[in-house]
Amino acid sequence: MFAYFKASEELTGVITLPGDKSISHRAAIIGSLSSGMSRIHGYSTSADCLSTLRCLGELGVDMKREDEVLVLGGRAEEGFAQPADVLDAGNSGTTMRLLTGALAGQPVSATISGDSSLLKRPMDRIIEPLTRMGASIRAGTGEGLPPLEIKGGRLNGIDFSPPVASAQVKSAVLIAGLNAEGSTTVREKVRTRDHTERMLRRMGINIRSEGTSVVLEPGTPLACDLAIPGDLSSAAFLISAALVCPGSSITLRSVGLNPSRTGFLELLARMGASIQVNVEPDDSWEPRGEITAGYSQLKAIDLSPEDSARAIDELPLVAFLATQADGITSISGAGELRAKESDRITGTVSALDRLGARIEENTDGMKIIGPSRLEGAEVSSICDHRLAMMLAVAGLVAGGTTSVDGWEWTQVSYPGFLEVLVSLGGGAGVEKRR
Ligand code: S3P
Repeated sequence: MFAYFKASEELTGVITLPGDKSISHRAAIIGSLSSGMSRIHGYSTSADCLSTLRCLGELGVDMKREDEVLVLGGRAEEGFAQPADVLDAGNSGTTMRLLTGALAGQPVSATISGDSSLLKRPMDRIIEPLTRMGASIRAGTGEGLPPLEIKGGRLNGIDFSPPVASAQVKSAVLIAGLNAEGSTTVREKVRTRDHTERMLRRMGINIRSEGTSVVLEPGTPLACDLAIPGDLSSAAFLISAALVCPGSSITLRSVGLNPSRTGFLELLARMGASIQVNVEPDDSWEPRGEITAGYSQLKAIDLSPEDSARAIDELPLVAFLATQADGITSISGAGELRAKESDRITGTVSALDRLGARIEENTDGMKIIGPSRLEGAEVSSICDHRLAMMLAVAGLVAGGTTSVDGWEWTQVSYPGFLEVLVSLGGGAGVEKRR
């Protein structure tokens, strides 16, 4: 499916975003290991989070919708049921990695597979620590790629220092640690998003963070009521649109503002963006608040490897914004971008280059010379939701018409994104082609 975009001005409005994808996955997976019924308000409507629910359903987890609330029954007492079929994680790396951590300590044998993008994503990073904990996991190929065959059993806690900065790896090990004998420690070099730690603490687990390390004692999570904040990574596309379209001002309500996720906002502040952030004064386990972003003259910045790790999902957007900023922006230490839903370094560079940007690819990053005037062209999402939406925002400043092929992939994280852009005043639509 193609969507088209035209140069736009004065995007204005107030938007409430879909629930955070990372937190939704954790609410469902950790809730499924708990004792009791959890009530989850604002569960993400993304295809990825629906993949998690589909897999949990195959494992015998009861769930139903009551209006906007997802009611989910934990299986702490009986354990997961033996699935009749292969579990399909779709496009979702978080589903595959976190669920493998959950399955490692369960009395079942299961196979998890996914779409052609997921089948190319590295799983050795979870197989190695989970095997050390005592799990039996076989990858579909010798290179540690899915599908994964998991035979759950008795686990022991480990002291683990992940070689890559990855919240998914940390979370898989911590979730497995719930059913292990003895404590589990994860020592990170750079602190990654800490939603798992916050969720486990909220559900009564003894888990301590010390600097960039976290220590978990085994236990059974207690089901609870959760209100998921809006997804900051989805908000990032609307914020970026406001920054580059003249005369714009957009307000986003009840967005997640967990400090381990706000790296993108910090980069924007360094670029000179006009952004106000008001954190809501409540004692919620995940901070949230309101963001207002307006049209801004941006300037180039240098991103260190730590900056890149703290804004990993938003780096394609940073690269686009740099095409509109004054000066040379360099992004380094971002090699992990090549192991996402697509190779996001090559994908970003080739699509923005097609639109007329001055952008170069490095092994672990990009260099962008701005500002440049973009010209509309036909570009591809290469089956990657974040690239599709970044290119949509680029299409709002490019001259002429920008067509984005593979628009349907936006369902993976932000169903309804195009309709939201149109409601704000963006020139956008779905193209009818024969
Ligand atoms: C996520 C962690 C990040 C991120 C992904 C979601 C999570 O991946 O890119 O979109 O929910 O834990 P890595 O852990 O592979 O860095």
